[in-house]
Amino acid sequence: MIDKLKVLAIDDRQDNLIVLQAIVSDAFPESKTFTATNGPSGIDIALTEDPDVILLDIVMPEMDGFEVCRRLKKDENTEHIPVVFITAMKTDSSTHIKALDVGGEGFLSKPFDESELIAQIRAMAKIKSANQMRKNERERLEALVFERTRELHEELEERQRLEKLYRLLAENTKDCIWLLKMDYEIAYMNPSCKELFGFSPEELQDKCLHELCDTEDRSKILAFFDSVRLEEASGRYLSLETELSRKDGGRVSVEMTARLVRDEKGRAIGFQGVTRDITERVASARKLEEAFYSLVRVVSDLVDKGDPYTAGHQRNVSRLAVAIAQELSLNNGLRESIAVSALLHDIGKLLVPAEILAKPGKLSEIEFELTKRHADAGYEILRNARLPWPVAEIIRQHHERLDCSGYPQALCGENIRLEARILAVADVVEAMSSHRPYRPALGVDKALEEIQANRGRLYDTEVVDACTRVFRERDFQF
Ligand SMILES: [Fe+2]
Repeated sequence: MIDKLKVLAIDDRQDNLIVLQAIVSDAFPESKTFTATNGPSGIDIALTEDPDVILLDIVMPEMDGFEVCRRLKKDENTEHIPVVFITAMKTDSSTHIKALDVGGEGFLSKPFDESELIAQIRAMAKIKSANQMRKNERERLEALVFERTRELHEELEERQRLEKLYRLLAENTKDCIWLLKMDYEIAYMNPSCKELFGFSPEELQDKCLHELCDTEDRSKILAFFDSVRLEEASGRYLSLETELSRKDGGRVSVEMTARLVRDEKGRAIGFQGVTRDITERVASARKLEEAFYSLVRVVSDLVDKGDPYTAGHQRNVSRLAVAIAQELSLNNGLRESIAVSALLHDIGKLLVPAEILAKPGKLSEIEFELTKRHADAGYEILRNARLPWPVAEIIRQHHERLDCSGYPQALCGENIRLEARILAVADVVEAMSSHRPYRPALGVDKALEEIQANRGRLYDTEVVDACTRVFRERDFQF
């Protein structure tokens, strides 16, 4: 490597250059020596050839060696090339110091020892190589810093763009978007809160949720946030549909969706969520529900009209069955299921000949078998109706009895659906309390005696007790 080194000799005297060239090529046969007879052309060669060492004369016309060296060391393309001053000048220490000052790495006074020159060249070549490595490393680091700076700049720009976008979205959406601290202090609410609750974001700043809710709403909302905390592990957003008070005292139906927020260290720092006005949705759901129930009542009345002696039977059974369900604290879904099933439980009678239904006095065995078919017939009529409750199945089971003595499937005990067990009790109590073609009304007391007498045998114990309480303690009346 060192044999292939490149040497640049700058001297205004051609004979000196020839001597230097001869010494170098003798010591390093593979080397290449460039020469220049003045400073400017020496600098040009240094720039184009990037030599490993420059042998530089001090005293030259036009530009002296010190100036040449100064310029070389100033230029980042040549600063790493070691410079050895060679001069016939009287070498006092001030010349040495000046040579070092302008950045020279070596100094040789004429006449010099050839081996000393060669040793200097070797040493300089090593310095050049080290300088080159340092230069490369610096350039690499500079490129790295430049690249990272550019990336950071781009990231920052992207973040600013997204922040602007999010702010735009948050502030222009119809939904109320909010952030709460753990103590329910409002950290952020978008301008939609004004339309939804009547409070401007400024009015809400630093307020706690408690201060804005009335007592009933407050306990509902705090219970909701408790469940948000408990459900956190599932990672789901929890929702609550409720009514809340507005600033003007009016009520608004909302859907609140919330999630717990943690910081980068995993500490819970608050809640984030969205509150949406669902007044229209609730109103249209209510309308649809009313339409559905009115249609069910129409069908129910139609069925009752086919049996003139049992007018209003299904409506009465439905009211009593729902009161029993309420007494048993059943959920809304079950209550609705019971209400609809009860209103339609005798729909199968549409398929029983009217003269049998209207016949006064006791029915023959065949006639009775025919009326019994109304349970299965009800199932057949409704089984394809796409209802959110198992109405067809409940209706089929409303004449089943705990001891398996019922019909049409002779189901036993808990194989009979709870809704059907309730319907059975309500049906019997209503029927006994009302007038029938073959007997006068027996009255509620007799009806309750009947279900009590068969409590646990034909009828579900808890349902019988709940039915009794409904009459005795809640003053239920048909
Ligand atoms: Fe029935």
